[in-house]
Amino acid sequence: MRNLLPLISSHNAHPGGRSALTCRFRCGDACFKETPNTSDNEYAGDIIARAVSRRSMMRTAAVVTVAAAAGTAALTGPNTPRAEAAALAGHGHKPHPPHKPAPSGARGLRFSPVAPNKNDKVTVPDGYGQNVVIRWGEPILRGAPAFNPEKQTAKAQAGQFGYNNDFLSLLPLRGERGRQVLVANHEYTDEVLMFRGYDPANPTREQVEIAWAAHGLSVVVVQEESRTGKLGAVTRHPLNRRLTATSEFRVTGPAAGSPLLRTSADRTGRKVLGTLNNCAGGTTPWGTTLHGEENFNQYFANGTTAMHKRYGIGSGATERKWERFDRRFDLAKEPNEANRFGWVVELDPYDPDSTPRKRTALGRFKHEAAEPRLTADGRPVVYMGDDEKFDYLYKFVSSKQMKKGTSRAAREHNLTLLDEGTLYVAKLTGDSPVAEIDGSGKLPNDGEFDGSGVWIPLATGTTSHVPGMTADEVYVYTRQAGDKVGATKMDRPEDVEPSPRTGRVYVALTNNSDRGKEGKAPADEANPRNGNKHGQVLELAENWDDPTGDGFAWRLFLVAGDPDDPSTYFAGFPKERVSPISCPDNVAFDAHGNLWISTDGNQLGSHDGLFGVATQGDRRGELKQFLTVPTGAETCGPVIQDRRVLVAVQHPGEVDGASVEKPASTWPDGPGKIVRPSVVAVWRKDGRDIGV
Ligand code: FEO
Ligand code: CA
Ligand code: CA
Ligand code: CA
Repeated sequence: MRNLLPLISSHNAHPGGRSALTCRFRCGDACFKETPNTSDNEYAGDIIARAVSRRSMMRTAAVVTVAAAAGTAALTGPNTPRAEAAALAGHGHKPHPPHKPAPSGARGLRFSPVAPNKNDKVTVPDGYGQNVVIRWGEPILRGAPAFNPEKQTAKAQAGQFGYNNDFLSLLPLRGERGRQVLVANHEYTDEVLMFRGYDPANPTREQVEIAWAAHGLSVVVVQEESRTGKLGAVTRHPLNRRLTATSEFRVTGPAAGSPLLRTSADRTGRKVLGTLNNCAGGTTPWGTTLHGEENFNQYFANGTTAMHKRYGIGSGATERKWERFDRRFDLAKEPNEANRFGWVVELDPYDPDSTPRKRTALGRFKHEAAEPRLTADGRPVVYMGDDEKFDYLYKFVSSKQMKKGTSRAAREHNLTLLDEGTLYVAKLTGDSPVAEIDGSGKLPNDGEFDGSGVWIPLATGTTSHVPGMTADEVYVYTRQAGDKVGATKMDRPEDVEPSPRTGRVYVALTNNSDRGKEGKAPADEANPRNGNKHGQVLELAENWDDPTGDGFAWRLFLVAGDPDDPSTYFAGFPKERVSPISCPDNVAFDAHGNLWISTDGNQLGSHDGLFGVATQGDRRGELKQFLTVPTGAETCGPVIQDRRVLVAVQHPGEVDGASVEKPASTWPDGPGKIVRPSVVAVWRKDGRDIGV
């Protein structure tokens, strides 16, 4: 049921709902700078004509209609992620105690929704418990010391859990009862909340090196408690691992070795030190994890070229001043170094000696996430959003089929799947008259924001499909390739998730305060609100039997905001029965086929949170809030298993004017303790499954 508590008024000055501190450290103040996409972007021409076949469009449109009418899966194909989710769940079940009747809702969403609030804690539904699984600074590698905020060192941090956990993945661990492998992204660092007395104008070398070590990825084995869904970290497990801003990564795929990727330190263009700003990601059906390098631009000083600008790299010094300590962050000295970031990284968490790879076939942009699904004939398709106002939605289709099983031969083969295939960008067309899309969010006369789309091919292997660009250029300057082929300018495409039940694909579009401003793209049917504060969730249907997959049908599933706001839409579900939601960011599915959405930058005066919504049946669109996060924090990395919900509480206490000396949050350890980004598990106190 919708909670009727009055909303608390927002004091956020930032157009996207975040504090200025978040903008400064997370995105390099992207919103206050010129939008990087200034392309006219109207050329569609021959490429679209080649890509669209009227027949394939009608086929996909028919699939959507059938699926909607039946409320069941109309799309076929291997359901590996779902099988994996089933395999992941169900360890250590105990007989269930008697219980009260559960609140109503779709199966998996039967909980009493949490009200919007500003609590400085993780607030969960009645009957649910929670625990901190792991905090920033907890030692995970052999020899790493216990966390001491007053005695931080780069060496210690390199063996400890990193800062600002974002994407999370839980993978099965065979042969070790009740254990799973947790993989986490560490998107960025908040120096003013990490170091007492931090002087932004004069960071010390040690502080900079700690920040390098606090970025990157963590692999840490976790142990579950058999009676609840509680999880705890297993320190010093042989699979535990840290990868940082200075670890070695291999560059693979069609652009590996390109002159555009060579630097004075790496004349091969195939070896990069570090991964940066890993935001969301994905888990592959072959047991690896994918990690998007997002706002990498902010780490590079002295950008000079048009392509530096197209990627939002500024012409001056950086906020963190890393260029003073390593010349590769100064583009006046190493103009190609920035080209080595902005990729999707693939990690094999089961091989602690493996070198993770940057997959050039998936293109270079501000990768939010990378979520795969298999085609009907077993080839991976990876969906990806470029999180910038007016940037694009992409997919990659591999030319190779996944091999099943865990044999060495299968694993080695599967580690090549993301190196060969075709990269596409999306163009969406509405089916309602343009005059009916007035920028207010008012539904057009056919009752839906919907239409058709095409995937425009950009490159296949070493063949470019973009006139005037080589394949290397398409991969390294993918944004420019999208500009040239007339891709649709979207409202900040964030996480993209295919439903393991229906195959329909869900895209979180977080907001776009510049939509409709003078000189900027106006509202269109897929992005129907000017000055879009709250974002929307797009649903699209592919034809999984068509290997080229070039046509799709789409409609808006949610248009976010306060349900009392007439511009909102919840898949047609009665609005008085849903929770308010703002700024959808990360998306995940549970085993019941419900979509879970975490938010970044709530504009309705509440803290950010996590929501669940049915995507099928007569409760389709019934959105319910499951939790809220502490002051200043963003909800990231949701993983929904049968017995637990896992979230990354990112940047708690990140409020303007806050510092170590003047904290805005005391989460998770209370007054007098430094605020620490942490992973939280939420589970039912009666030991039953979530929401049933
Ligand atoms: Fe790192 Fe697009 O959020
Ligand atoms: Ca329409
Ligand atoms: Ca995000
Ligand atoms: Ca996701």
